[in-house]
Amino acid sequence: MNNSINLFSPYQLGDLELPNRIVMAPLTRQRAGKGNVPHSLNATYYAQRASAGLIIAEATQISPQGQGYPNTPGIYSAEQVAGWKLVTDAVHQQGGRIFLQLWHVGRISHPDFQPDGALPVAPSAIAPKGEAFTYDGPKPFVTPHALETSEIPEIVEQYRQGAINALAAGFDGIEIHAANGYLIDQFLRDGTNHRTDEYGGSIENRVRFLLEIIEAVTSVWDTNRVGVRLSPSGTFNDMRDSNPLETFGYTAQALNKFDLAYLHIVDSTDADIKYGGTAVPTKYLREKYTGTLIASAGYTREKGNAVLANKEADLVAFGTLFIANPDLPRRFALNAPLNQPNPETFYGGGEKGYTDYPFWSATSEQVVSL
Ligand SMILES: Cc1cc2nc3c(=O)[nH]c(=O)nc-3n(C[C@H](O)[C@H](O)[C@H](O)COP(=O)(O)O)c2cc1C
Repeated sequence: MNNSINLFSPYQLGDLELPNRIVMAPLTRQRAGKGNVPHSLNATYYAQRASAGLIIAEATQISPQGQGYPNTPGIYSAEQVAGWKLVTDAVHQQGGRIFLQLWHVGRISHPDFQPDGALPVAPSAIAPKGEAFTYDGPKPFVTPHALETSEIPEIVEQYRQGAINALAAGFDGIEIHAANGYLIDQFLRDGTNHRTDEYGGSIENRVRFLLEIIEAVTSVWDTNRVGVRLSPSGTFNDMRDSNPLETFGYTAQALNKFDLAYLHIVDSTDADIKYGGTAVPTKYLREKYTGTLIASAGYTREKGNAVLANKEADLVAFGTLFIANPDLPRRFALNAPLNQPNPETFYGGGEKGYTDYPFWSATSEQVVSL
């Protein structure tokens, strides 16, 4: 091995020392208990994966209004905070570090999830194409309620409260979910944001909601414990933007002043391009953003090492590989075979496909070249 940086090079993330550069990407698994409360099974799952340099726990709604799928965890009730404490304690006991991804789905919800059966909220009254996954199965998305300007501060406040609760739950930091077509992303892109107030129109205005949320949560956490996730090329959840390079180039630059823990980018995928997305290369954002960059989506051991050696990113997040391989760093280190993820058990259910993926054991027939 030459001296170039690779997945096993330690990394100083603010005041946190990461033993490797392998990040567990946030992964919704829909296995929270009653009241959207995390429980011991979730603690086992995350503790199994504590050898990651950093775990980013799954998207977690900051309010009942922010929910859009069955059995996703929340971070707005005392029971949820206590449930998450089981998770953070278990990860810390195994020597790991764990951030929580704060989530509001915006229009990717359904009245079935909303308090009093209300309409989901969004920057503009534009229904996404497709169906919501409700407790009774798929139902067509509805046209959301366009937030009044006067309703926005309340949501920013919910993020601040989520940040307070995440601190109380023992997390090491938080990630603001501004990716994948959920509420913040709906504000950033002009396909979903047709507002005419100070939160719409120019990119300076469209990014305002995100910046206000960052201000709010950094009144609770040190800035170097707060990350942001963006998906500049993503088309998931019926997302569009007329100029993604400008929108996300500007957004990345606007984050520079905060001295955040990191900017986490979901790279473009073949599916995004097929559905009309414009690839916004991570390399392009590297030039705009001066802090720590996490690359994600479609990475393998080889691709991950390459992106680090080329200095296009500082850390690499792995999603589906971490679902199937609780000991992913060890397997990467040994270049051991990987368990294959089973998409049928990604969402919902119990232990199967969650905590029962085997750890690597070097039995004689499994030994590979070390
Ligand atoms: C089952 C599943 C759940 C996911 N949940 C989230 C989530 O909660 N938050 C998020 O930002 N991305 C989520 N993603 C996207 C992943 O974080 C990641 O970007 C994606 O899986 C691509 O990376 P990979 O090729 O390493 O799997 C999810 C993906 C999958 C497959």
